[in-house]
Amino acid sequence: MEGFSKVAQRSEITAGALKLVEVGGEQIVLADLGGTVIAFSNVCTHADCDLAYGALDGEEIECDCHGSVFNARTGEVLTGPATTPLPTYAVRIEGSDVLVGPA
Ligand code: FES
Repeated sequence: MEGFSKVAQRSEITAGALKLVEVGGEQIVLADLGGTVIAFSNVCTHADCDLAYGALDGEEIECDCHGSVFNARTGEVLTGPATTPLPTYAVRIEGSDVLVGPA
C-alpha cells in the first residue's frame, strides 16, 4: 500500500464492531479502541481466515477458525497456532474521514 487512502467515515466505526474495508486489493479491518481507530489485516496469518468475523476483546482479536489471538494494535501473536504477526496499518482522521496507510 502506498500513501493514505480514505476508507470510511469516522461515524461508521463504533466501539465493539469490526468494519471490513478494501484498499488496493488488501482487506483491512477497522475498529474503535477506546476512541482511537485502529486498522489491521483481515487475513489471519495462520490459514487465511477472515478476522472480521472474529471476536475483539479489548486489544485482542481472536480468529474464529483455530483460535489464534493477536494484539490488534501491534499485530503481535498472543496465542497460536499462528506464528507470524498480523500486519497493522497507520490510521489518520481528517475531519469526518478515516484514512489508512502503510504501518
Ligand atoms: S486461520 Fe486463524 S487461527 Fe487458523
